[in-house]
Amino acid sequence: MDYKSLKEKRKKYFTHTAIHYYKEPLYITKASGTKVWDSDGKEYLDAICGIVSISVGHNHPKIKEKLIERFQNDGIQHSSVLYMTEPAIELAEKLVSLAPEGLNRVFFTNSGSEANEYAIMAARNFTGEEIVVSLKHGYHGGTLLAQTLCGHSTWKFRAQPFTSVVHTHPPYCYRCPFDKERNSCGLACAKDLEETILTVTRGKIAALIVEPIMGVGGFIEAPAEFIEEAYRICKKYGGLYISDEVQTGIGRTGETFFYIEKFGVKPDMVTMAKSLGNGAPIAAVMMTDECSEALTGKLHFNTFGADPYQALQAKINLEIIEEENLMENVKVLGNYLKSEFEKLKEKHEILGDVRGKGMMFALELVKDKKTKEHATNEANEMMEETRKRGLLIGKGGLKGNILRMAPAYNITKEECQKIVQIIDEALTEVQKNSK
Ligand SMILES: Cc1ncc(COP(=O)(O)O)c(C=O)c1O
Repeated sequence: MDYKSLKEKRKKYFTHTAIHYYKEPLYITKASGTKVWDSDGKEYLDAICGIVSISVGHNHPKIKEKLIERFQNDGIQHSSVLYMTEPAIELAEKLVSLAPEGLNRVFFTNSGSEANEYAIMAARNFTGEEIVVSLKHGYHGGTLLAQTLCGHSTWKFRAQPFTSVVHTHPPYCYRCPFDKERNSCGLACAKDLEETILTVTRGKIAALIVEPIMGVGGFIEAPAEFIEEAYRICKKYGGLYISDEVQTGIGRTGETFFYIEKFGVKPDMVTMAKSLGNGAPIAAVMMTDECSEALTGKLHFNTFGADPYQALQAKINLEIIEEENLMENVKVLGNYLKSEFEKLKEKHEILGDVRGKGMMFALELVKDKKTKEHATNEANEMMEETRKRGLLIGKGGLKGNILRMAPAYNITKEECQKIVQIIDEALTEVQKNSK
């Protein structure tokens, strides 16, 4: 269908929450590896990968081959967990072998939101407590409970009830909510967490849910001291610790398979989605035997959870990450990109902060480096300028002033150089026009 008709139909038939990047929506028709093409045949380097979801590249040959093979052999297409199928069980086994010690049980869902919903229900069931603590600027999904967990007014609906969730300040060091400096702050945000529990709850909680790097919030990295202190506080008040690894999991940071493993804590649950299926709609919760046993006798069902085709894609995706040693590539080129962006920070007035790890990094744009006024329009212009130059990136942050990138794990050094060059050119252009 031609661009104009498709755009009109989208506008006519989709509900009004259907947002899109760019002034004019991009109509993408084809993808391979790190590249995508639009309906006019223009090529783009994909540095956002859907939304942080493509891990081993678009249409990886091995995934294609295995899917085609399964179709050709009339492999069962849909069954639900009420029957046994090989891909989901093998995937669960693989995930247990890769997860932090003690996370031995897996429940599959279709999205990160549902994974978080299930984790919270399991935590409430286990502790008998209701209150969940989450962080301001955090994002945990679009379903009712998951939205309640979110710390962003922008994503909330009108008249939405807040179901037993309290929010505490995040470790957003670049914009410290307490106006302190990182090394002399006395971990004010962790103190706020304890005070919140002591003042807003009955002194007992069901869970604390934290993204170790807050994705939608703009890749806000929690320092190790915060995670370790938050964990200690969570345990002190009886909560289960849930690490939301929807963006950071599956090796995206290049450091550990789940980012939480880097810290001295033992999460009770981790949730994952996005890169798990390399774009296939599959997500999961992993938990300890104890949490799982506490669910014994409970009926819980998800029609498409553990779907054989999605589970197969996820399983092959994990195999490819190992076979092609992709976490090493993520680490090496992630460090390279970070250092190149740090150089751009020195050069460009509007580039206030560079954050991220591995194949997830953010550029926070400001109108002035001293006042840190959010450069929201400039971020929108950066989206247009990078698009023109054949680079796809994303945006985030409460004020929409943070550019986000999350390329595929098998990106090359030359492609990384191209990203830096285009961002450099676009920053120069946007800065020129914003004066
Ligand atoms: C950290 C985090 N948790 C949960 C979700 C929700 O995942 P989904 O959109 O698959 O429901 C997201 C989505 O962006 C996310 O970034």
